[in-house]
Amino acid sequence: MGPIGVFDSGYGGLTILAELREKLPDYDYLYLGDNARAPYGTRSFDVVYEFTLQAVQELFDRGCHLVILACNTASAKALRTIQQKDLPIIAPGKRVLGVIRPSTEIIGSITKSKHIGVLATQGTVASNSYVIEIAKFSPESNVVQQACPMWVPLIENNEHETEAGREFIRKDIEELLHKDDQIDTLVLGCTHYPVLKSFIESIVPSHVNVVGQGGIVADSLASYLNRHPEIESNCLKNGTVSYLTSENTEEFDRNASVFAKGEVKSSHVSLH
Ligand code: DGL
Repeated sequence: MGPIGVFDSGYGGLTILAELREKLPDYDYLYLGDNARAPYGTRSFDVVYEFTLQAVQELFDRGCHLVILACNTASAKALRTIQQKDLPIIAPGKRVLGVIRPSTEIIGSITKSKHIGVLATQGTVASNSYVIEIAKFSPESNVVQQACPMWVPLIENNEHETEAGREFIRKDIEELLHKDDQIDTLVLGCTHYPVLKSFIESIVPSHVNVVGQGGIVADSLASYLNRHPEIESNCLKNGTVSYLTSENTEEFDRNASVFAKGEVKSSHVSLH
């Protein structure tokens, strides 16, 4: 038995972890942030796949039977290959899940105008994953995307609340809303973005619903564990959480408090 693994390129997945712990507090969690190599958003398909597979392998080696890719970029660029090509060879009984599918399953029931805007990294936007997946579950919806290449670096460096940082964010939002003025639902398609939610809400028209993924992913995981007792029975339930980072642990612990509630004490991990 082992903890549930939660992976992100950096700090963003902590926003998902917080909601998992709220919804499913009994389980043990092991978080891994590849902060030394973040951001992933502007990296190529091959590199994101290689880095993500290394992280998944590390979490498997530490006892996880189930790993959540709490990163849209990794979910868009690496998840399918890992599920289809790697898992049957490296760990046939283990599972890796992403964050895009749960979000796209539900978003059609949130929008009234059927005009959805997606804010995400360059990599996620270029993969077209949101457009393709929303078309499956809500074919009547119109989806427009906006790549926000500066947002993750701003957040990773804790500069998202500076005047200059806010200007970048404002500009991207305005560009997106300009592409389709009927948008009533904005998906935060990157797990870093929930820290910007209240700022984004303050600059969009009041009828626009800003949707983060944490609650959606937590509900989806709860349902998955119900439907898969063979995986669930391998998940430890002592209510603990541990953190790994590929960067400096002191810096991680300091910055992680922006995303996670309470004190964080991480250990270092080298990924290769
Ligand atoms: N949190 C990751 C995501 O959801 C950020 C990716 C990055 O490192 O650029 O896409």
